[in-house]
Amino acid sequence: DAWPQLLCVREKSMCVDKEDVVQVKDAFKWAIQALVGRELGASMLFNSAFEVSIGFTHAETDGDCHFLCVFSDSLHSLPSVFTRMAVVKALEKISDEEFLRQYPCPPARPATKCTPLETTCLHSSVFIAGRYNKFSRELPQTPWVIDGERRMEGSVEELIAAPLLSSFRADAFNFSSSGREDVDVRTLGNGRPFAMELVNPHRVRHTKAEVRQLQETINASSDKIRVRDLQIVTREAMGRMKEGEEEKTKSYSALIWTKKAITKADLDLKIDQKTPLRVLHRRPLAVRQRTIHSMSASYLDTHHFTLLLRTQAGTYIKEFVHGDFGRTKPNLGGLMETEADILELDVESVDVDWPPAVPE
Ligand SMILES: *[C@@H]1O[C@H](CO)[C@@H](O)[C@H](O)[C@H]1NC(C)=O
Ligand SMILES: *[C@@H]1O[C@H](CO)[C@@H](O)[C@H](O)[C@H]1NC(C)=O
Repeated sequence: DAWPQLLCVREKSMCVDKEDVVQVKDAFKWAIQALVGRELGASMLFNSAFEVSIGFTHAETDGDCHFLCVFSDSLHSLPSVFTRMAVVKALEKISDEEFLRQYPCPPARPATKCTPLETTCLHSSVFIAGRYNKFSRELPQTPWVIDGERRMEGSVEELIAAPLLSSFRADAFNFSSSGREDVDVRTLGNGRPFAMELVNPHRVRHTKAEVRQLQETINASSDKIRVRDLQIVTREAMGRMKEGEEEKTKSYSALIWTKKAITKADLDLKIDQKTPLRVLHRRPLAVRQRTIHSMSASYLDTHHFTLLLRTQAGTYIKEFVHGDFGRTKPNLGGLMETEADILELDVESVDVDWPPAVPE
């Protein structure tokens, strides 16, 4: 298929422009696509999600390019790598006159064929989203590794990923979520929005019923997590999970211990938090202002009460309760003029309206 177009180019003018020269890559595609299509019983599409890369080497062409090394620092340092980009860059530095002095025009006819290298197939990623509940206080969201050693069995992302990887037959996954909870924090209510990139899936199409079946498989695989609203989404839609994340609210329920008796609190507070000591190794030191929209307490006994909080996303709840050595101001202990600590914490809701609910 390539030849008629090449001939047109040749007939048009003796002096072809750079833009008129058909790239070998395109000529090869034109020549090969009908053959491959016939062989596979599939049609060729531009911007297809399925990509086949075929590599070739051709020693003669490499030889043609050697003179370019004189004109290019990058080629000079890697004299054997004549990638198209590197050659184009080097050519841009040479005037037409210089080029004609260095290189025969028209070029000599190649005497040898090129050698095919590897052929690789790659399907672009599939993205899948949903919400998860975490019912365990001993399950990290992502594998917990300290100094190369694994600290805890399993993780939320691995439990969700396992059935998805096998059903989509993907090579790898990438997990992201709207915020994260500590290992010992449960996530209840409607759950936390998450999205997972499945890299190079070999089986892409899944019906709604199959996705639902996958959700059931995840639900049944462990008592520690549950997943809802599982659905295939686009890469673009995934961005909505992170959109305005800082402004979103989260609700918590905390079991609090205090030294002295408790008064009911129901107020809006501004608090300043320095990056907690416990996360200083991952985040820069900074004072961030966070809003607590509402708080309410219900008494359990003289030293315990349950605190319900609705806060701006990203508020460090544990630090708000115990004060983090004065690094969160004000803090619950300070406000109540007693030592206070958090015994158990649950996320009750993450108010991000993505992904959309999937009707049962
Ligand atoms: C995961 O996502 C990051 C950022 O988008 C990307 O750099 C990385 O290559 C991805 N990992 C895989 C396995 O695709
Ligand atoms: C999985 O568990 C969630 C949360 O309990 C529930 O809403 C959902 O219907 C379950 N899905 C399936 C397919 O079992």
